[in-house]
Amino acid sequence: MVLILLFFFLPQVTGYLDDCTCDVETIDAFNNYQLFPRLNELLESDYFRYYKVNLQKPCPFWDDNSHCGMRDCAVQPCPSDEVPDGIRSASYKYSEEANNLAEECEEAKRLGAVDDSLSKETRQAVLQWAQHDDSSDSFCEADDIHSPEAEYVDLLLNPERYTGYKGPDAWKIWNSIYEENCFKPQNVKRPLASGRGDDGGQTFYKWLKGVCVEKRAFYRLISGLHASINIHLSARYLLQDTWSEKKWGPNITEFQQRFDEVLTRGEGPRRLKNLYFLYLIELRALSKVLPFFERPTFQLYTGNKSQDAEMKHLLLEILHLAKSFPLHFDENSFFAGNKKEAAKLKEEFRLHFKNISKIMDCVGCFKCRLWGKLQTQGLGTALKILFSENLIEKIPESGPSYGFQLTRQEIVALFNAFGRVSTSVKELENFRNILQNMR
Ligand SMILES: *[C@@H]1O[C@H](CO)[C@@H](O)[C@H](O)[C@H]1NC(C)=O
Ligand SMILES: *[C@@H]1O[C@H](CO)[C@@H](O)[C@H](O)[C@H]1NC(C)=O
Ligand SMILES: *[C@@H]1O[C@H](CO)[C@@H](O)[C@H](O)[C@H]1NC(C)=O
Repeated sequence: MVLILLFFFLPQVTGYLDDCTCDVETIDAFNNYQLFPRLNELLESDYFRYYKVNLQKPCPFWDDNSHCGMRDCAVQPCPSDEVPDGIRSASYKYSEEANNLAEECEEAKRLGAVDDSLSKETRQAVLQWAQHDDSSDSFCEADDIHSPEAEYVDLLLNPERYTGYKGPDAWKIWNSIYEENCFKPQNVKRPLASGRGDDGGQTFYKWLKGVCVEKRAFYRLISGLHASINIHLSARYLLQDTWSEKKWGPNITEFQQRFDEVLTRGEGPRRLKNLYFLYLIELRALSKVLPFFERPTFQLYTGNKSQDAEMKHLLLEILHLAKSFPLHFDENSFFAGNKKEAAKLKEEFRLHFKNISKIMDCVGCFKCRLWGKLQTQGLGTALKILFSENLIEKIPESGPSYGFQLTRQEIVALFNAFGRVSTSVKELENFRNILQNMR
């Protein structure tokens, strides 16, 4: 076994990344030693560990043959008395604020009484936003959290890990995401596609290079998400399964099959680059959303005052840290080109992404469905932030934020999704060390 492994190559991702002048080594050091430990602490807090989800929605696209009977796929919902009152009660403070806001916005629209001191552009934006309710502007098909089928799940008790859900069913999910929802024309085959037309990805990469930077970004984000999920499954593999003991840990073979440069004909390192790209995009969203969380009226409300204050402090520390990371994207190249173009792109992105979030209802394993929904909602929230940069910059320090809102669900998803990607970057280091020691 060890002998065979000697011939494997380390998936080489080093140096600069495409579409960004940042290098992998800087990201590793920043994430693994500064951001990851703080983020982990935050995600263990009550505010962030409970996520409400409806796992019973039927798949809108095809008949799913559910694997939900598989033991490791089960999700344990929380008895509702375990969820802190502040989160459970429909009238918790934050949502009250949000409701008032919605009403105020309606009122403002009705009277046409948007503050005159705002620029024409902002007024326009405020009015537009008031017309869209939260759901119409979101990038995901959000679960109706008031549905009787929606339940709170304790994310700490239901970790994302290997479930045995793979093969044709899992493949079908990713395939429909890539094939029908990533702007890709049908005649362009993805690399490693089976059958005719597989030219080692040449046509594909030529196509990818030719599309605008945002559409290329969209594909890379999906690929990064796919890579991240696969890293978790390889890192939390069910290694031993006897009646007395279950052991989860890294499975190098599984990792190699997905990321080794030779075994994947060069795709592995590209996938890992896309993972870093996803990391940077979500990091950028965090750095941009700071004004929203910095407002004194914003609370991470659970009902425990001292804990809420402590966690808000930690949250802001993380956001400032994110802001301090030198992200050398070209400010004008992403999501911010020509105004008309940008609006059109935003809408296209939103529709594609919304569809991807619906596909998550087709994932035939509850555990994977839970984490799939959470991570797509998190990425969708990051995109919503990036497309709302101008609105966020105009959020007043005190008083309500008219133009831009996030629900608790979106906030929980945003940070947990980023936590997953941050964990992947950290686990990658672990795999690199294991592989190095095997040489
Ligand atoms: C949404 O995804 C499904 C399943 O992959 C696909 O059949 C459908 O064409 C997609 N719709 C849009 C609008 O992209
Ligand atoms: C690791 O994963 C491979 C599949 O990639 C599997 O065949 C093997 O049994 C796993 N090893 C352990 C120790 O579970
Ligand atoms: C509130 O949170 C703190 C920790 O931040 C904890 O020590 C305390 O017991 C909590 N209070 C209640 C009433 O749960």
